[in-house]
Amino acid sequence: MTQTFPVDALKTKATPYYYYNIQLLKETLTALKKEMSSHDNYYMHYAIKANANPIVLKPIREAGLGIDCVSGGEIEAALKAGFPAESIMFAGVGKADWEIELGIDCGIRCFNVESIPELEVLNEIAHRKGKVADICLRINPNVGAHTHANITTGLSENKFGIDMAHMFDVIHRTEQMSNVNLLGLHFHIGSQILDMNDFVALCKRINELQDQMDAQGIRVKIIDVGGGLGVDYDNPLKNPIPAMKEFFDVYNKHLKLREGQELHFELGRAIVAQCGSLITKVLYVKDNTNKKFAIVDAGFTELIRPALYGAHHKIINLTSNEPLDTYDVVGPICESSDTFDTDIQLNAAKRGDLLAILSAGAYGESMASCYNCRKLPKGYALEDIMAD
Ligand code: LLP
Repeated sequence: MTQTFPVDALKTKATPYYYYNIQLLKETLTALKKEMSSHDNYYMHYAIKANANPIVLKPIREAGLGIDCVSGGEIEAALKAGFPAESIMFAGVGKADWEIELGIDCGIRCFNVESIPELEVLNEIAHRKGKVADICLRINPNVGAHTHANITTGLSENKFGIDMAHMFDVIHRTEQMSNVNLLGLHFHIGSQILDMNDFVALCKRINELQDQMDAQGIRVKIIDVGGGLGVDYDNPLKNPIPAMKEFFDVYNKHLKLREGQELHFELGRAIVAQCGSLITKVLYVKDNTNKKFAIVDAGFTELIRPALYGAHHKIINLTSNEPLDTYDVVGPICESSDTFDTDIQLNAAKRGDLLAILSAGAYGESMASCYNCRKLPKGYALEDIMAD
């Protein structure tokens, strides 16, 4: 699959906006399902935080995936998009009471509990409602991930999960509670992980924990290993589909599941990153003494990843075949960090050119903001553009 940009159609919409290539999303889902198909105990819950636009949720639901949520708003978005409540896992280090109530009321599959105080509140709210809430304990495995510090979650210094040293205490505590039912253990070590050894390290840690549990006669039904598989931001056109096989091979080979155990995954970025592009128009080209700026109408309000994590997104000029020139591509927001990239080569740009900022399908639209009183941008699939 090569990414295609229907330039004439793209010109018809007001910029900036997200363009979703649903065909590529479907091919990514097919690649994912192919790797999972020989394991009837593997379950995928799409991490809806990556992108909650109904345009992308529809094919994901049709592919039979469940949902991983981290807020009440995400539970509502998932239900609205037609995902069954029983397919929803709910993680998050700070669940508000109303969010816990929502999860219990609609009958989600499982709460991924991140602390003892949360466990107590959940048990109390479930008791008040005369319900028993199914839970996994999110354990902080103290496994590092070779990725940006802001998106590492599995180290003991990170706020996420229950300290490994407290795991057995908490398990025993759940046994005393009448309104929670322990289903399993949950882990998530970070995001944009390309070194498969990080996932191997997680498997080894889970194996150790399961050995310790065996010794105490404790057996759980679910092992949930979270998400984290990275994508190729440098060459998205060449590598539009992430390394699904390598990712699942790690778990097939290194994780020792016990008889009857289910293995759950929560991929976000790997499913949707490459199918989305941020389409933006060049407003001005400013030729300073030592820099040429392409000033575009999208800013970090539409894609905050470069400003927040120093992330690199490939940018192409969709409407120029002129020789290459060197630019800093910057947005209109009143902050110097509103820079998409510096000193990059683009086909020579002029006012009115359309640029595509690639790999913006994950954590683009879902992290958009209204800073500078800007309007939240729209997202379109090709059919939406053609229909108008
Ligand atoms: N499960 C849990 C519990 C998570 O916290 C996350 C992501 C995922 C699954 C999905 O991870 P993924 O497969 O997408 O790597 N805004 C950042 C990424 C933050 C990820 C937060 N948690 C970025 O733009 O790079």
